Parts: sequence; C-alpha cells; structure tokens
Amino acid sequence: MKFEIIGGKTLKGEVKISGAKNNALKILASSLLFKNPIIIKNVPYIEDVFRMNELLKLLGVQISNPKKNTFILDSRNVKNFILDDKIAKRLRASIVVVGPLVGRFKKAVFPYPGGCVIGKRPIDIFLNSWKKLGINILEKNDLFTLKADKLDGTEIIFRVASVTATETILMTALMARGKTIIWNPAIEPEVLALIDFLKQSGAKIFVEKSKIEILGRNGKLLEFKKPFEIIPDRIEAGSFLILGSLLAENLKILNCNPQHLMSLVGILEEAGVEIKRGKNFFELKKPKMLKSVNVKTAEYPGFPTDLQAPLTVLLTQADGHSTVFETIYEGRLNYIEDLNRMGAKIFMCDPHRIIVFGKTPLRGRQIESPDLRAGLAFVIAALISSGKSIIENIYQIDRGYEGIDLKLQKLGLNIKRIV
Ligand code: EPU
Repeated sequence: MKFEIIGGKTLKGEVKISGAKNNALKILASSLLFKNPIIIKNVPYIEDVFRMNELLKLLGVQISNPKKNTFILDSRNVKNFILDDKIAKRLRASIVVVGPLVGRFKKAVFPYPGGCVIGKRPIDIFLNSWKKLGINILEKNDLFTLKADKLDGTEIIFRVASVTATETILMTALMARGKTIIWNPAIEPEVLALIDFLKQSGAKIFVEKSKIEILGRNGKLLEFKKPFEIIPDRIEAGSFLILGSLLAENLKILNCNPQHLMSLVGILEEAGVEIKRGKNFFELKKPKMLKSVNVKTAEYPGFPTDLQAPLTVLLTQADGHSTVFETIYEGRLNYIEDLNRMGAKIFMCDPHRIIVFGKTPLRGRQIESPDLRAGLAFVIAALISSGKSIIENIYQIDRGYEGIDLKLQKLGLNIKRIV
C-alpha cells in the first residue's frame, strides 16, 4: 500500500488523538500477570497492536474485541512460554512480553527482538537485570532461553534510562520475592501509566525521581479491578502540533494531554507559533513566518526522539539555520537524504547531528517510509510540498498511527491510500 499526496493545501478543523501505541503495547503484555481477564479501552487500532495481540494469542492468551478500541485479555489458560519467532523478530516491543512471562513461569524463550532501522537496539540492560534477579540465560544463535528456580528482589542500576527495559524488568520484579529497586529508570508518561494500571490492580510500586521500588509478590498474580484507559498518544498529538504550525488556518487537537508535550510547545513557541492549550486540547494556527531553533532529543520530559523527524521537516520551513542533535539513536537521521531530494538543505555533521538551512520550498517525490516516525515526517513533508508525492511502505506508518489518512482528509488535506 502507498499514500498518494497532493501538497500545498491548508488545513482546518479538529482532530481526535488516539491512544498511545507505546502505552498500549505494554498494557497488553501485562495481561500475563493477571489471574482474571482485563478490560482495556482506548487501544489504538494499529498494526503494532495487532502484532502484539497475535504474539499473546500464540502464548494462549484469549483476546476479544467487543468494540473498536476495547480489548479483553484473559491469560488464565496460558501454558506456552516460547515467543513466536517471526512476530517477535518484527516487533521490538516483543521483549516486553518476556518480563511478565519469565516472572510468572520462571522460564521464557525469545529471539533477539527486531523491527527496527533506527540504529543499534542493544538488550544488555534487560539481560543484566534478569541475571541480577536470579535468572539463568542461555544464548544460542540469537535465541535466548531464560530459566530460574526462584526470583529474588535486588538492586539494579540502569546504565541508561531505557523505556522498555524499565517496563519489562519492573514486571519481572513484581513476581519476585522481596523488594527490587531500579535506579535511573525511564519515567516517560507511558511507563507511569503502566505503573498506574499495575497499582490499581494491587501492585505495590513506588516511583521517585531517580528510582522505582517494586515490592515483589512472590508469584502471586494481580487482580483486575476496573477498566484501564490507554493514555493519549503524545507523539501523534505532537505531530499534529507540528503539522498545524505549517499548514493550519485553524486546528484544534482534542483528546490529548498537553502536559506531556511541554518541551515541544517550548520549541514551537520559540519558532514563533502561538499555541492555546487547555486540560485536554491544543488550538493553533500557522504563524506568518517560522524562526530557526536549535533542538536536542532527550529522555522525558525533554524533547522526544520520536518527534525529531517531523520537527526537522518544520525546520526546513524556518528562516535561518537550525541544529538538531539526536542523542538517543544513531540511525535516526537517515531520512534526511530523502528530504534533501525533495528540496531541503540539510547538512549531516555526524550520525547524531544535522544543520537545517531554511527556508527551502519542497517538491513532491516518490519516497519510501523507512520507519514509522520518519514515515510520518515524509507525510508532513509531502503535504507542504508542491505537486504530488507517493509514499511507499506505509505499513510502517500504519504500525503506529490509527487511520492517519482519514484524520488528514477530514482536515481538508489531499491524501489517498492506493495499491
Ligand atoms: N539501550 C541500551 N541497552 C538496552 C536498552 C536500551 O543501550 O538494553 C539504549 C538504546 O540503544 C537507546 C537508549 O537506550 O540508545 C534508549 O532507548 P530505550 O530503551 O529507551 O528505547 P526503547 O525502550 O527501545 C522506547 C519506544 C521508542 C522510543 C524510545 C525512546 C517502545 C516500544 N518504544 O524504545 O519508540 O523512541 O523508547 O523514548 O516503547 C517508536 O515508537 O517509534 C519508538 C521507536
């Protein structure tokens, strides 16, 4: 499937933000820790969620979908502890399933998780933490076999604040005996939302700025009490803020949490965009001109790496030169060659740093979506370009954004899904 986009149109109207992919995937995986079925609402209808559900089904989790965006997961009959090789290799978040799986069964088998072109994605922090919890790890041909007689709470120090490692290890530690402390954990809103869900189901987890304390339940499964609502996708909301800054006569972004996006709001305000915000909405229009800004990606509450590519597209339209420093992944600037082919003037200093010289008009082209975030950046680039663009490999975009073409069409933009 491809997107055909005719650029150069302005947009107007309202858009509703879906549930966050990176919260939904972990909440779905946490179903393995429950002794009764769990009900999850506001789950985005996206390819990564479908892959995660397939992976869980193959372990024996029964999943129903009584209405769009609501899922019920029942892990009472799970007997299998081997992750499906094909799906796990396609989905980086598959490793999060191993956390509750090894916590509950004291064994798990999984391949090196794949699904990524944004640079090295090591798993050393996961492996070291599992070892500290008392798990034996055997690795053969990129297949990992985890086994433990018992799991004992411990103190773990993360070398870097990894999002998925925090989520995975805290779910393993929850089934251990005694207390675990994770120092230097990730505290992204999606991590805190997972912790909220576990806590409302009986888990004792305490979050401080530099550590998370988990009281192990010695194998006692959690009890589901009330439906959980996936938090709004801050990356989708942020992408619409960027798009609105480029093309909006007037745009209202609904069902979002502005507090999760303050770093981006700060950057856009410095670029000259006026943004109104309420408890769960943003409203904005494009300014007369955009000014250059220097940005650096960072862990939350810093500027998220997942918005780096869309923001770079915006910076091609800002007067003056901007610098972008991608600190999290070294492969996450690879899309700039394609932007340059569309007319941008971006200079790569090293794999982590670029200079964007603006303002440059962009021209439509045929381009391939390399990963989901750069894919959406190409959609934005195509929408501000003159002429027609074809964006290929949109599976990558459908992995993370629910009905993005429909949302853009509703705002008056010209985007079509073609075979
Ligand atoms: N890292 C290690 N060793 C590890 C784990 C991570 O060195 O064992 C490094 C990574 O290489 C990276 C840094 O730690 O340099 C931080 O990466 P992190 O582990 O936090 O990333 P992640 O957990 O794999 C999640 C999101 C990403 C998002 C990052 C950063 C999920 C499924 N993925 O990835 O989202 O970019 O946090 O916020 O939650 C996306 O949605 O497109 C996406 C890539």
